Amino acid sequence: MAKRVVLAYSGGLDTSVAVRWMTEEWGVEVIAVACDVGQGEDLAPLADRAIGAGAVEAVVLDVREEFARDFVGPALRANALYENRYPLVSALSRPVITRHLVEQARRFDATAVAHGCTGKGNDQVRFEVGIRSLGPDLEVLAPVREWGFTREDSIAYAEQRGIPISATREKLYSIDENLWGRAIECGEMEDPWAQPPEGVWAMTVPTATDPREITVGFVAGTPVSLDGRSLPLYELIGELNGIVGSYGVGRLDMVENRRVGIKSRETYEAPAATVLLEAHRDLEGLTLERDLHHEKLRLEPRYAELVYDGLWFSPLKDALDAFVTASQVHVSGEVRLLLEPGRCHVVGRRSDASLYDYGLATYDAEDSFNHADAEGFVRLWGLGLQTWAARQGRGGSAS
Ligand code: ARG
Repeated sequence: MAKRVVLAYSGGLDTSVAVRWMTEEWGVEVIAVACDVGQGEDLAPLADRAIGAGAVEAVVLDVREEFARDFVGPALRANALYENRYPLVSALSRPVITRHLVEQARRFDATAVAHGCTGKGNDQVRFEVGIRSLGPDLEVLAPVREWGFTREDSIAYAEQRGIPISATREKLYSIDENLWGRAIECGEMEDPWAQPPEGVWAMTVPTATDPREITVGFVAGTPVSLDGRSLPLYELIGELNGIVGSYGVGRLDMVENRRVGIKSRETYEAPAATVLLEAHRDLEGLTLERDLHHEKLRLEPRYAELVYDGLWFSPLKDALDAFVTASQVHVSGEVRLLLEPGRCHVVGRRSDASLYDYGLATYDAEDSFNHADAEGFVRLWGLGLQTWAARQGRGGSAS
């Protein structure tokens, strides 16, 4: 019996060619698995397309809800931003796809899993490390890394064999999209000085002109409602993308460090992510005890690095998740945001678990703060420095 391989299938040129190429070159049977992570396209036709390319089986899975709940949710609670900016759009979808690739490999008795990534990017790292973490016995295959085809070659290969593709010879950008955002690379943007052409933006085309307020409700760090309406996370994110995107909010243009040592100019659109991260961080300001909050802030960049670097299914990531989950018990409440063309900012927050004490914070005369306590506290706080300064000879002649 031929070896069976589960392929992460996107329906694009590379993975369509990969189906046939692996079948012909390696004599394997290919099972194509396509996952809907909210890329905003109907994936139903992909099954036929994969079969047309030569797959023996094709599976299309709607994993949007799972993606939001098990991958986006934890990253949001961790305020995960790679290099302090990138909300990990593509990095988050790879582990959910990986989980299903391994599951389908078991279901079809496959001994290998394949992906269509090139050798230059992060996504190969995420797939391969993820697959090895969930199925250490599975072989990992990367046909695109081996065949050495140019885009022209791939199109010619598909045409010669009647493989259905929708690709044109002109391909300007490499785009990856899901519920959490959209990544756009290549074309003229490979020059980091060149401004991204207007045409690259799809989720953040500004159309709204009137300011608008929105209220996001959180329970234990997870967004659960929009303007008082309860919504499952993936729907809430979807709606928010539409609203926030229409204000042109959520664009990001940066040069980032890939895991494989390449600096890369990246542009992203992540309207819902931008606003939810902002709102979540703000609610933490209101509800987290100081030391817990400060420690969490230190761990957040590490969390983001692990996700970016393909270490989602790792013991360190699990341990950090446990910390984050424990930290979120009281992160419940509401955050009010004001949307204006080109910007969005928090204008208010409230929570039953608020640690904000008006009596302590107010500058009114009638507060509950014992001012006399401050004197001794501040003196002791500065005592060590004062001693040190005196030793440095900083005392005046009078002392
Ligand atoms: N640089 C981003 C990341 O590593 C985006 C990658 C987008 N992937 C793609 N196949 N275009 O997460």
